[in-house]
Amino acid sequence: MKLGLAIAALAASALAVEIDPIVIKGSKFFYSSNNTRLAILIPAEDYTGNSSSSYTDPLADATLCKRDIPILQEINTNVIRVYAVDPTKNHTECMNMLAEAGIYVISDLSDPTQSIDRDDPTWETSLYTRYTNVVDDLIQYNNTLGFFAGNEVSNTISTTDASAFVKAAVRDTKAYIKNQGYRSIGVGYATNDDSDIRVNMADYFNCEAEDEGIDFWGYNIYSWCGDSSYTESGYSERTDEFRNYSVPVFFSEYGCNSVTPRKFTEIKALYGDQMNSVWSGGIVYMYFQTDNDYGLISAIDSTRISKLTDFYYYSSEIKNATPTGTNKASYTPTNTALQSCPAVASPLPPTPNTALCDCMDASAGCIVKDNLSSTSYADLFSIVCGYTSCEGIFHNGTTGDYGAYSMCTAKQQLNFVLDKYWKEQGKTGSACGFGGEATTTKTVVATGTCRVLMEEAGTVTSKPTGTGGSGDVSASASASLGAYVVTAVVAGLGMVLL
Ligand SMILES: *[C@@H]1O[C@H](CO)[C@@H](O)[C@H](O)[C@H]1NC(C)=O
Ligand SMILES: *[C@@H]1O[C@H](CO)[C@@H](O)[C@H](O)[C@H]1NC(C)=O
Ligand SMILES: *[C@@H]1O[C@H](CO)[C@@H](O)[C@H](O)[C@H]1NC(C)=O
Ligand SMILES: *[C@@H]1O[C@H](CO)[C@@H](O)[C@H](O)[C@H]1NC(C)=O
Ligand SMILES: *[C@@H]1O[C@H](CO)[C@@H](O)[C@H](O)[C@H]1NC(C)=O
Ligand SMILES: *[C@@H]1O[C@H](CO)[C@@H](O)[C@H](O)[C@H]1NC(C)=O
Ligand SMILES: *[C@@H]1O[C@H](CO)[C@@H](O)[C@H](O)[C@H]1NC(C)=O
Repeated sequence: MKLGLAIAALAASALAVEIDPIVIKGSKFFYSSNNTRLAILIPAEDYTGNSSSSYTDPLADATLCKRDIPILQEINTNVIRVYAVDPTKNHTECMNMLAEAGIYVISDLSDPTQSIDRDDPTWETSLYTRYTNVVDDLIQYNNTLGFFAGNEVSNTISTTDASAFVKAAVRDTKAYIKNQGYRSIGVGYATNDDSDIRVNMADYFNCEAEDEGIDFWGYNIYSWCGDSSYTESGYSERTDEFRNYSVPVFFSEYGCNSVTPRKFTEIKALYGDQMNSVWSGGIVYMYFQTDNDYGLISAIDSTRISKLTDFYYYSSEIKNATPTGTNKASYTPTNTALQSCPAVASPLPPTPNTALCDCMDASAGCIVKDNLSSTSYADLFSIVCGYTSCEGIFHNGTTGDYGAYSMCTAKQQLNFVLDKYWKEQGKTGSACGFGGEATTTKTVVATGTCRVLMEEAGTVTSKPTGTGGSGDVSASASASLGAYVVTAVVAGLGMVLL
């Protein structure tokens, strides 16, 4: 019986479901084919669970989607946030079921194993490949609303240098979407609520150039606990801070649980008159119950869930949320100016260029042994870089100094410096030893585009003078090489419109 149902659902959902893409105008989201504003009423659907090394793709299992979507509809959901999807899986059934339910998806581009690490930030080719693979997969569904290029990467003053790498990821993902000719879709960032950095963060990601800045700003905020108020929670100040922001801003996580049960009284404020003109709603954290105790429901098995106390409170508040709308046709954004960059902002890292990295790698005559574990790379880097200058792979988000090869994979970077030192030593065998961790190998002489790319990159780098560029491996990449070479939603019960 269960099998029969599953098959029926599968057949039905293989057909594309008609749904209208969302577009951004000024600081608001709208349906593209009519003038209705989308106010986000969303739970965050975090299936990543409690493990940091693996995750479950929430959009890959139609049985689970079939179980959860009616529950999401029951609480007027129009957008969900998913934290990690596997771009090699098939998301058609789940996305179509969501489309039938009028539900849009904002997806993070990273996953727990591949993301920009605040303690050792880089923006390199393998991460670029993951980001663009997720875009390639989800762009085919009209109910994909947008992407987060990072979540709480910089979360304290001491980790702010990581934001240069995230902003480079925003810039390059946006350029990729444009170069592929995909429909217009936003790339944003979800920030934490740290009083030391929150204003600078919001300014930094929305300053200088539109094509480098975020298309929407997500705010993870837990300052309304228990029976708080608009002023006591700090919501009033946060709202003033974003009154003139030029792109949509919404809560990308909310729902403080230091007082339980959570009664979600913040929903009246978030979707009420004081906040609705500034915020595009919010995403409650979160749908599933896990060890961190933020769930609205608890999964029993693949077809059943149980609703928790918070679910009922959330449900009654969200059903009373009545955000007022804005008509797209009669809406003229007034807050079009970008923010001023914080004084500390430095140039962005270069665009990952797989072609350049592969060329360099193929021409390296001294390389790291394949069987050396990547956990030993750091030690080897510090040894080699004690013998020779490693400027070509340096990447420092504070100073804005980036080597031409700083956007290659760690292994390629290691090959670059091993080979550099070996050549400087006249290719003597002993210069490619490193305790048996390195070895000489046959090389491919760089010709054609490869050679042009490498000559432009040189062995070191200087301060960036250019921006952007295509991450593509095409020959035309050399046109924008300057950059490499020199271092270079929404609220509530649906939406309302007026
Ligand atoms: C993905 O699944 C859908 C629905 O089951 C199917 O029609 C489609 O062919 C699949 N796509 C790929 C690439 O396998
Ligand atoms: C997707 O959106 C485009 C543009 O609005 C529309 O032409 C197309 O019919 C939509 N496709 C589906 C399957 O909804
Ligand atoms: C605009 O389209 C959305 C999605 O189809 C729908 O929910 C909304 O009611 C429409 N607005 C109007 C005024 O028809
Ligand atoms: C993760 O959560 C599941 C289900 O709640 C539990 O069975 C499992 O032991 C947890 N794993 C860890 C590493 O905490
Ligand atoms: C927003 O813009 C208005 C008009 O330009 C200005 O008076 C106001 O000070 C600005 N507010 C903030 C928070 O920047
Ligand atoms: C890697 O392989 C070499 C033999 O080619 C061996 O001598 C060395 O011990 C191996 N290293 C590791 C870390 O396994
Ligand atoms: C980046 O440069 C600054 C200023 O020189 C220095 O304090 C910081 O340690 C450097 N960061 C890294 C990761 O090397």
